[in-house]
Amino acid sequence: MKNILEAPFVEEMKKVTANMYRMGWAERNGGNISYMLEEDEVAEYLDLSYVIRTIPTGFDATELIGKIFIVTGTGKYFKNVEFDPETNLGIIRIAEDGTTAELLWGYKDGSRFTSELPAHLMSHISRLRVNPENRVIMHTHPTYTLAMNHIHKLDEKELTHTLWEMCTECIIVFPDGIGVLPWMVCGNNEIGIATAEKMKNYRLVVWGLHGIYGCGKDIDEAFGLIETVEKAAQLYMIATASGARINTITDQNLWDVAGSFGIHDKVRKDFLNL
Ligand code: 13P
Ligand code: ZN
Repeated sequence: MKNILEAPFVEEMKKVTANMYRMGWAERNGGNISYMLEEDEVAEYLDLSYVIRTIPTGFDATELIGKIFIVTGTGKYFKNVEFDPETNLGIIRIAEDGTTAELLWGYKDGSRFTSELPAHLMSHISRLRVNPENRVIMHTHPTYTLAMNHIHKLDEKELTHTLWEMCTECIIVFPDGIGVLPWMVCGNNEIGIATAEKMKNYRLVVWGLHGIYGCGKDIDEAFGLIETVEKAAQLYMIATASGARINTITDQNLWDVAGSFGIHDKVRKDFLNL
């Protein structure tokens, strides 16, 4: 059996959590990540017949029975993951009943997965239906995106449009736009259901005045989506604070750049005013 502390998926989790902490997106225990793993890749490091303990999830994830995820722990600080992955991360498998997580590794101090597991697993279900390659759901609290939430209308079309206008390549990175939820109590099934509903149509979901969710086939893709939104939000906040904007990328410009990348069919055209 190979050493799990050297597994590429543990390394990836260490790197991305440290990076998000340094980006200022993950204060204290802010943010959480779930990353679906292949059974074969995990079997190189763990005896899959050995369950350390079981933890009820409180919701039905029948579609994910047998699926294995590495998930950040609740209350754990992203800044600490790289130094003690076995305490701050866990590897869980959804049990045969669909409502129990079998702990295969981690949460060494007796703790458990993120309080946002409903939003994560329900979003995995939504995204896997759209894209069977999806493996990552990522939640974080990016500073400028949140600042923008305080001064910009929390409307999917308007928020997406404003962000697309901020830098030329935003429409290339997220042509499908951004879903938006109003402020809600977090850490429960209700916000999980609402997030997963948005994830049917969007790869990015803003939780109003709280943070953002992104997804992807790998960590890079989910991170890159959020990073691009955050960059655009940063530009918006700086430009807005500096005074009236006198130049903008027009809707025709946006449509033209999407055309040059061959993605007209992917763009939420109803979010443009053409
Ligand atoms: P957890 O510590 O439970 O992952 O919660 C952090 C968070 O960002 C809640 O939305
Ligand atoms: Zn949060």
